[in-house]
Amino acid sequence: MDDVIKGLEDVNIKWTRLTSVDGEKGILRYVGYDIEEIVDKRASAEEIQYLFLNGELPTGEELERFKEKLEEGYDLPDYVINSITGMPRSSDVVGLQMQGMSSLAATSHLGWNAESNRDLAAKVIGQMAAITSVSIRHVLGKKPELPWGSDGFSKSFLRAVFDKEPTEKQAWAMNTVNVLYMDPEVPASTSAGLVAVSTLADLYSGVVAALAAFKGPMHGGAVDQAVQQLIDIGDPENAEEWFNKNVVLGKKKLMGFGHRVYKTYDPRARILGSVADLVALTGDSARLLQVAKALEKLGISTMGTRGIYPNADFYSGLVYMGIGFPPSNGIYPALFAISRVSL
Ligand code: ACO
Repeated sequence: MDDVIKGLEDVNIKWTRLTSVDGEKGILRYVGYDIEEIVDKRASAEEIQYLFLNGELPTGEELERFKEKLEEGYDLPDYVINSITGMPRSSDVVGLQMQGMSSLAATSHLGWNAESNRDLAAKVIGQMAAITSVSIRHVLGKKPELPWGSDGFSKSFLRAVFDKEPTEKQAWAMNTVNVLYMDPEVPASTSAGLVAVSTLADLYSGVVAALAAFKGPMHGGAVDQAVQQLIDIGDPENAEEWFNKNVVLGKKKLMGFGHRVYKTYDPRARILGSVADLVALTGDSARLLQVAKALEKLGISTMGTRGIYPNADFYSGLVYMGIGFPPSNGIYPALFAISRVSL
């Protein structure tokens, strides 16, 4: 767009060349690449982060350089770590992400610089992973650990959070959910971040603004509500009674169902459902997966004819749970937010 609209007058941000969604057919493309193909080819989170930041997939050399910049971000200054660990253990993790990013906004003195921002964006993604690791560990009562290693963004992050080597399956599941949740369109958080940087504020301040909009239950927070609903139902045998009493009688919406754009099965939900099948194998995650499957059947048979189907949030929480993250302190929305920082 060549015109500059002053003061954002009458601006309606709706379109991005980065994503295209066919909501009737359930097709999602990232810069022209079909999401199913991206996942089938096991593209790494870093490749897709690069795609969104640069508009094309990286060559091998470009990817290496991008990863170096990203990994620079893992090395958080002590004052950022201290700003998080000084907070109560009961804190919300998205709030702690804002706390860490605010510390960087306060000290960066950068302002907006289109030339250097591309490299800085890679570093910010690494810093976001490091801030999230410190924050999750803090609310779980553990000492800070920073991501490390050059064998993959998702692996480095899991290694830090759990302080041990992730399995290949955990790393693959984390990479898949990271890639699927990058889908930008132009949600409230992206719009809020764009408004902040349109004043030529620095990238860190843009991320803080985006996180503030993301935190609400109608946006990033929805992933927690979808899991909480499964926890409340507790057992697949209770699903039908709960559904009839709450959704059919119009007392509650079925969380993780319905979408503004998708009027059929959200392709991300389909993929995440199959990832959940592979990682949610024991304990709570396995039992809640059975609850989700029972609810999915009831939801589609009752609301499918009105175009209301599972969205990406329906199974993502179970993938996080299957990897080993507990459903507390807003940890799941915070994991979702890591993906969105690539935009
Ligand atoms: N459960 C029950 N009824 C629903 C649901 C649902 N999940 N979704 C829509 N409906 C019904 C509404 O009650 C409304 O019924 P009415 O016409 O009788 O009043 C009708 O369908 C239209 O609903 P709207 O909210 O106007 O539809 P819209 O397409 O704008 O809404 C939305 C999309 C907000 C996501 C909605 O489906 C919803 O609230 N879903 C539950 C929350 C959720 O899962 N959020 C995650 C969003 S997607 C994501 O973050 C990946």
